[in-house]
This record gives sequence, structure tokens and C-alpha cells, in this order.
Amino acid sequence: MTLWSGRFSGKLDEAAWQLNASLPFDRRLAAQDVRGSMAWAGALFEAGVLTEAEHETIVNGLRQIAAEFEQNAFVFHESDEDIHTAVERRLGELIGAAAGKLHTGRSRNDQVATDFRLWMRQAIPELDAAIRNLQSVLVERAEQAGGTLMPGYTHLQRAQPILLAHWWLSHVWVLHRDHARLADLTKRVSILPLGSGALAGVPFAVDREALAEALGFAEVSQNSLDAVSDRDFAAEFLFCAAMLGIHLSRLAEQIVLFTSAEFGFMELSDAFATGSSLMPQKKNPDVFELTRGKAGTLIGLLTGLLAALKGLPSAYDKDLQEDKAPVFQAADTLLAVLPVLAGALRTLTVKPQRMRAAIDSTMMATDLADYLVRKGVPFREAHAMAGKAVRAAEEKGVRLEAMPLEAYQALGPFEADVYQVFDPIQSVLKRNATGGTSPQSVQNQIAKARKVISHQ
Ligand code: ARG
Repeated sequence: MTLWSGRFSGKLDEAAWQLNASLPFDRRLAAQDVRGSMAWAGALFEAGVLTEAEHETIVNGLRQIAAEFEQNAFVFHESDEDIHTAVERRLGELIGAAAGKLHTGRSRNDQVATDFRLWMRQAIPELDAAIRNLQSVLVERAEQAGGTLMPGYTHLQRAQPILLAHWWLSHVWVLHRDHARLADLTKRVSILPLGSGALAGVPFAVDREALAEALGFAEVSQNSLDAVSDRDFAAEFLFCAAMLGIHLSRLAEQIVLFTSAEFGFMELSDAFATGSSLMPQKKNPDVFELTRGKAGTLIGLLTGLLAALKGLPSAYDKDLQEDKAPVFQAADTLLAVLPVLAGALRTLTVKPQRMRAAIDSTMMATDLADYLVRKGVPFREAHAMAGKAVRAAEEKGVRLEAMPLEAYQALGPFEADVYQVFDPIQSVLKRNATGGTSPQSVQNQIAKARKVISHQ
């Protein structure tokens, strides 16, 4: 028996039934469906549609169903088309005819949108906690890094020396934006569609504001047509997930590079590395590669839903049933990846000597130009003079710090103190403005990051 068999005399084709059914994935909304139904029963009672006795019977029945779900004792039937059908069917078994009054004025269209939003209001804080945990690991790593220097890259070419702590912290701010995006999305998730009916609204005196309050929503939707078809929140969630996935992927890619023998900046702990079935020497960064790979999947989930939404005519269309599986998959993926990534980063061994050895004095060429700027040379000219110094050293086959003073003096107003410029510590010390890589700036940044995370 379906909820809608009244006008049908024939039976739905078996394969079409399977295609139509959403229970395999929407059973995850069980707790939300019961919660929404309890609130709806309350609204119907307040509206005078249910008697006090009916209301009590329905709520008690729903309580028992909630307990059955919690204890994993709820038995689904072959004929349960979706979670809403299953709950209503079970309610009928438990309380009899009164169950038939629960769906008064409600449609599965406003019901499913409500359940899904309730679910997301719970999923976002879970995801947020996993993000925060990863951020804490990154801040810890920054603290442990102390004054360790590393080459900073642009175009993956050695650029300027930076503190390793500064590099770790860069990812904390990236993740802070992911948190902020989810927090912003929460506002739009917190709009209640229940009380929109199938598309046109409820013909009973339901107090939707009270209903919103009972279910913890901040506002009620203002247009029933929009409310039953709005899946912006699902698409936005998938965008947040894809963007987060991309951020994790970029971090992962750098770890893959840094743990390669060519860089040798970091080493994976055994707990988060895998071996090769053929090559005995291998220690592979699978965790980071999977993180990178899953970003691709997350992008696909987003584009899949966007494509499903495009071109839908007014109000509910069954295409909208395609919304839940990608959202669940995205949440599951990130909740699986984030803690593993946190563990892998926490247990990495850093090789400060390798990082230091990768810093050569040409990376201080900007400091060489800045040196001249401090002596009054306009930066453009200073840039050219420093560039010539790099070329002269290259031609002589010596490092910048080994080039004789006369060679410098032939190019510009250099003095004996020029050699101090080639100390990478001096280079980072100078970058002392907020957001720079000086030890002082980085200390301030750590304190700021800790504060920001604790308020997230
Ligand atoms: N299983 C459906 C979904 O997930 C519930 C809404 C069904 N509404 C309908 N009119 N058939 O979207």
C-alpha cells in the first residue's frame, strides 16, 4: 500500500517502484522525520484539527517510533516508499486510525524539505568540529615549528625564505573561511518550509511561527511554491564541501611534494603511510593522495546537483529527490577525511635541516634590492641592480655571499654591510607587518588563530 493508491487501480511496475523509492538513502532522515511529525501534530492540535486525546496518542506513537529507530529495532517493509511513508505506516500499526490524521494539511513536499534542513542543521556543526580539530593541529604544528626556516615558493620555484610556522598557519585561515561559509549557510538552512503544503499552503489555522520555534528554526518561509522547491541550501552545502575539499587537496598536494625524496622536508609516520606490494622501499602518502582525489568527487557532487536543479519548473518535481544522496556522500566523505588528515599532519616528522639547506642566497635577492632602497635607491633601479648582481654571481660561478665587494660596488651603492642581507633570518625578521613571516608577526598570528578558532 502506498500513501497515494486511492486513485490507482493498477500496481506500479516493480522496476519503476525501485527507481521511485528513496528509502535506501532517506532512512537517514528517520530521527528528523519523527521530530518534524511531532511538531506538526502539535501545530494541528493548536489549530483545532486534532483533539487533545488524538494529539496525545499520536505523540506517544511517534515517541515509540523514535525509540525503535534509536534501538535499531524499527522494521522497514518492502512497501515503504520513503522514510515518511515508513513512519506513517508504523504509526498506523501502533495507534490505529488516529495515525491517519497526522498528514492533514501536510505534504511530503514540505515534509522532506523540513527533514532535510533539520538534518543539515545537525550535520554542519559536526563538520565544523572536524574542521576546528584540523585547525588546532595546524596551530600546534606552527607552535612546534619555532624558528624553523623553509623556502617559500611561488610558481613552485624558490622565492623567499619563510618560517615553517607561517606555512602551517596559512592553512588555518583557509579553513577559517570554510567555517565562516558554513556558519553563513546555517542562516539559510534555518528557514522552515513546513506549513507550505504540497505547493499552495495550509488550509488550517496552523501557527507556523510557533512551529518554527518548536523545531528550532529562525524564520518561516514566505512563499509556499518557493519553500517546497528551494534546494539552494543543498547546493550551497555541496559548494562548501567542494571548496573545503579543494582546500584540503591543495594542502595534501604540498605534503605529497614535501615528503618526496626530492624535497625531503617531511616524513610520514608509519601510522599514516602505506607500502607497495612490489617495491619494498616505498612509503606512500595514500592518505594525502586520497584527500586530493576526493576533492574531485566532491566537485562532481556539486555539479551533479546543480545540473539536476537547472530547468525545474515551479514547486516540487521528483528530480528533487536527487538532492539527498550527494549531500550525505559529501558529508560522509569529509567526516572520513578530516580526522585522518589531522592525525597524519600531527604525526609528520619535519626535517628542519633539509628545509634550511634548500634556502640559497638568491632567495634573498629581494632583500638585496630592499637594501639599496634603504640607501635611497628607487625600488625599480634597485631591482635591476640586484638582478645584475644575481647574473654576475652566476657568470662567476659563485654564490651571492661569496662575490667580492668590488663586484657589487661596480653595480650600485653597495657597502661592506651588504653581506648581512644573505642571512635568511634577517630576511624573515624584516617582514614584521601584520600577516608577514617575522617571528613576532607569527607569534601574534598564532595567538590570533587560537582566539579565532575558540570562537568558531
Ligand atoms: N522521497 C521524496 C523526496 O525525497 C519525498 C517527497 C515526495 N513527494 C512527492 N510528491 N512524491 O523528494
